[in-house]
Amino acid sequence: MATIKVRRFKQIPAEITVPGDKSISHRAAMFAGLADGRTEISGFLPSEDCICTVRAMEALGADIEWLEETPGVGYTRLAITGHGMKLQPPTRNIDCGNSGTTTRLLAGILAGQPFSTQLTGDASLSKRPMKRVADPLALMGAKVEGQGDKICAPLTITGGNLQAITYTLPMASAQVKSAVLLAGLFAPGKTSVVEPVVTRNHTERLMSHFGIKWLRNGDTVSVYGGQAPRPTDIIVPGDISSAAFWMVAVAGVPGAQITLKNVGLNDTRTGVIGVLLAMGAQVTSSEEQSDGEPRGNIVVKGASLNATTIGGAIIPNVIDELPILAVAAALARGTTLIRDASELRVKETDRIAAVADNLRRMGVTVIERPDGMEIEGGAQLKGATIDSFGDHRIAMAFAIAGLHAEGTTTINDTECISTSYPGFEQELQHFLHNEKGHTAPIPVVSRMPVGMGVETLSEEDKAD
Ligand code: S3P
Repeated sequence: MATIKVRRFKQIPAEITVPGDKSISHRAAMFAGLADGRTEISGFLPSEDCICTVRAMEALGADIEWLEETPGVGYTRLAITGHGMKLQPPTRNIDCGNSGTTTRLLAGILAGQPFSTQLTGDASLSKRPMKRVADPLALMGAKVEGQGDKICAPLTITGGNLQAITYTLPMASAQVKSAVLLAGLFAPGKTSVVEPVVTRNHTERLMSHFGIKWLRNGDTVSVYGGQAPRPTDIIVPGDISSAAFWMVAVAGVPGAQITLKNVGLNDTRTGVIGVLLAMGAQVTSSEEQSDGEPRGNIVVKGASLNATTIGGAIIPNVIDELPILAVAAALARGTTLIRDASELRVKETDRIAAVADNLRRMGVTVIERPDGMEIEGGAQLKGATIDSFGDHRIAMAFAIAGLHAEGTTTINDTECISTSYPGFEQELQHFLHNEKGHTAPIPVVSRMPVGMGVETLSEEDKAD
């Protein structure tokens, strides 16, 4: 079992470039695999989750060329040559690993294929509800069979002969919206999804990028069947959900500053900026290029943070950032309330229970609610042994908490980090060592102002 040991940070790197956006990387690989021809994807996130998607498209007949490697991260440029919307029946089961996005979006694509495919996954994925995609896909005419009432993986999807539907999402889920829209490409007529709360719109933006026409009318997104994506090269921006860890690492340190470079600034994902602003940090973003998806730099200047309430329509926008925002809440003065977030209970682990448990281990008072939690912030965090529960975002959120804790924080079971952020641990090292100890490629050019958040050096520290 891999572990990460973290002590109080010694310095703040001036800038970090985070790897590619996970949601966009999955979708780019899927549309490229459905297009007839070659698409080059740059800035791709070579995390285990996204590689599962690429392997799935390969198993369904696409040709993959891995083109360029970024040291410490993996292959960030690849070409996918698809052979059109009629995919090849795979010769074996498709392993979706830990990835809910792979499973749910692929279910939408497979609903349009006239053959049966089995999707399998790891222990965590096999507990996650797939009924939320099985239900609308069955209404369209596909057969989605799974385990138990929640229709968990292994799933068997038998597709073909779909009919268009109008579907009102029972929960705010971009994955379910995307599964229905992808299936809609195979159904004659107009397929519509009504979303009561806005969710991330990467599928819609990528449809435009790949030449597929769609419409939004109020809370309804529609697509006409019979359209095929045109192969079109794409550059994926950095993932704001990965940037969020470093944003919070710095937000509560008065006088500190960090720049996160080339981050996706799609406004269905930037809620974390608003929350940190409400807590008192100074956060600015500058949109630099907009090639389908807006992108730019985010500058965070630290401050004494204050508690806030996070709930309502912003929840889908910050759903993946709630574990790290709970850490920000622990660093802030006052009681922060997170509500309307019961979806957190069906992520890679029950993230409400996991966050509450680990914050308590670090000395924080937390009241767990069915749809969120109350966090009493402001007490000095204490180093502790943390359980990731096999969930990448829990592991990373508590590594950041450890940078602000007294003593040593040990995070257990950290292999899971590679599902979304290869290279996270190397970046973390920039906070932990003085310059002379640095081995990672990004130079650290600024140090904390003297006396700001830097504890007296212990004998162990002096040895660095
Ligand atoms: C995702 C949507 C969200 C998010 C997940 C990625 C996507 O899930 O939590 O990490 O790429 O569409 P839900 O659709 O279940 O809310």
